[in-house]
Amino acid sequence: MSDHLRREDSDGTADRLSVFREQLDGLTRQTRRRSLVARAGIDFSSNDYIGLAGSERLADALRDALNNGVPVGAAGSRLLRGHTDPHAAFEDKAARFFGTEAALGFGGGYVANFAVITTLPQRGDLLLMDALSHASTHEGARAGRAEVQLFRHGDVDHARDLIQAWRRAGNTGAVWIAVESLYSMDGDAAPLDQLAELADQHGFLLVDEAHATGVYGPDGRGLAHHLEGRENVLTLHTLGKALGGSGALVCGAKCLIDFMINRCRPFIFATAPSPLMAVAGSEALDILRDEPWRRDALRDHVTVFGAELSRRLPQLSVSGSQIVPLIVGPESATMDLAARIQQRGFDVRGIRPPTVPEGTSRLRVSLTLNATPADVIRLAETLEQLWPDL
Ligand SMILES: Cc1ncc(COP(=O)(O)O)c(C=O)c1O
Repeated sequence: MSDHLRREDSDGTADRLSVFREQLDGLTRQTRRRSLVARAGIDFSSNDYIGLAGSERLADALRDALNNGVPVGAAGSRLLRGHTDPHAAFEDKAARFFGTEAALGFGGGYVANFAVITTLPQRGDLLLMDALSHASTHEGARAGRAEVQLFRHGDVDHARDLIQAWRRAGNTGAVWIAVESLYSMDGDAAPLDQLAELADQHGFLLVDEAHATGVYGPDGRGLAHHLEGRENVLTLHTLGKALGGSGALVCGAKCLIDFMINRCRPFIFATAPSPLMAVAGSEALDILRDEPWRRDALRDHVTVFGAELSRRLPQLSVSGSQIVPLIVGPESATMDLAARIQQRGFDVRGIRPPTVPEGTSRLRVSLTLNATPADVIRLAETLEQLWPDL
């Protein structure tokens, strides 16, 4: 019997929940206990970068699909009856849009990352990840077959050194380099071209475009758009951030996608995502082509916010992307500052360990078209007024 079932209440009955209560109490003592809070304030925290989540066009596309008989649920896994026309049409269209041989849909980016990393890197291979990779990549690494090593964030020389040491130790397997094209908590970009060169010599490059899809590259195809189509490059494009819906696409060589269809357990043993999400994703790709003004307006936000911050808080460095981490340092000062900014009507969230490394707690300001240019300037003013002297 496990420990938590053995523990007993005073009346002799097992207290099955004590192990969980104690851990929650520990989080409360560390002031790290989280809870769900309702949306409030002007959006400076979502990933709805170009404002598609609430757009009329996506809503109309879904209404039309429902009126034309597209079912809400897929009602089965993709290899069984869950493979519907909208899924097939969307994946074909996405492969053409991103410039790859094939694309495969998943219910979300987390599961897609996990799926790729537990399926493609084989025993005897090396999975070499940027240290700041998303939790889904770390979880995939833990559950996968390949040996795992981390390289220092954005440091290609370190990645190369690790590969060379691994080769010197006699390893002959493939190296899978896993990075984000734009880092979710730091807003900086990966040195993709140099990493692609390393991948050409040693194996494969996996690029998580979660925060770049829809925002960067021609038609919003992402920061790795010029690498798509290579047989050793796989990209992950999420649908739940700039594309305004939910789900994700893995894009790459047909052979690798076929392998996933045959061997990827999170794909095979799961109900397919809703066909409506395929409809929404497909419409979102059309919007990316038809409405470049959205990317331009977001770029304007980035420029204005960067200029305002540099003038008002010159001690802070700005990322140059729509994700602007403002490092405060101590956890409690960060959460206090976030709360005071929220009281002024801005939805800015504090991010702290374990999501980010100890001592680097920060405000993660996310610029989206759900805020107006005047909102962006007012937020910079507010930050100047409230920024703590530490
Ligand atoms: C870099 C990165 N990859 C993957 C994910 C997971 O994507 P999804 O939210 O679609 O599950 C996220 C979401 O936070 C992310 O930031």
